[in-house]
Amino acid sequence: MTSIPIGVLVISDRASQGVYEDRGGPAIEAWLGRALTTPWHSEKRIIADERPLIEASLIEMADRLRCPLILTTGGTGPALRDVTPEATRAVIERELDGFGEEMRRASLKDVPTAILSRQIAGTRGASLIINMPGKPAAIDTCLDAVFAAVPYCIDLIGGTRLETDEAVIKAFRPKGA
Ligand code: MTE
Repeated sequence: MTSIPIGVLVISDRASQGVYEDRGGPAIEAWLGRALTTPWHSEKRIIADERPLIEASLIEMADRLRCPLILTTGGTGPALRDVTPEATRAVIERELDGFGEEMRRASLKDVPTAILSRQIAGTRGASLIINMPGKPAAIDTCLDAVFAAVPYCIDLIGGTRLETDEAVIKAFRPKGA
């Protein structure tokens, strides 16, 4: 079976300059490693909080690498340098509001500042792009909250079928799908 490329885009001025070690990318990869039974590999990039760079990376992961799923981490807050949602909105064709709503709802159980995350999700061709906040702990909370709907979403847009370990997360597909 061929290995599915999954985009992991770390958006952080400091991690991209080596000021600190990135922990968001490894947190995403660890979660996917537990959840996915379909063979996959990470297409990871670590970039600064610059809109043109973010947009170009998302387009490359979707159009050239054909990643059915692209997860970003960082740059979703209200600080002046945070531009991940704007860059994501500029490259997606359809926004899926439910992802951001549910991730914030789930995160608010952990921290009141979860309301500050402007994370969004949407599709570009056969790729689903989802923003995660930058905090590594937020990644588990957010993926636990929404991932059950991810494989069927990718089915619907014509992306590669993803299977999960039901002990970690049960992918929901309507009967017959
Ligand atoms: N979500 C969860 N689950 N846990 C968190 O600690 N931190 C919040 C929020 N979402 C947080 C969270 C904070 S403090 C901010 S500013 C926003 O995510 C945006 O973070 P980002 O700019 O690193 O994406």
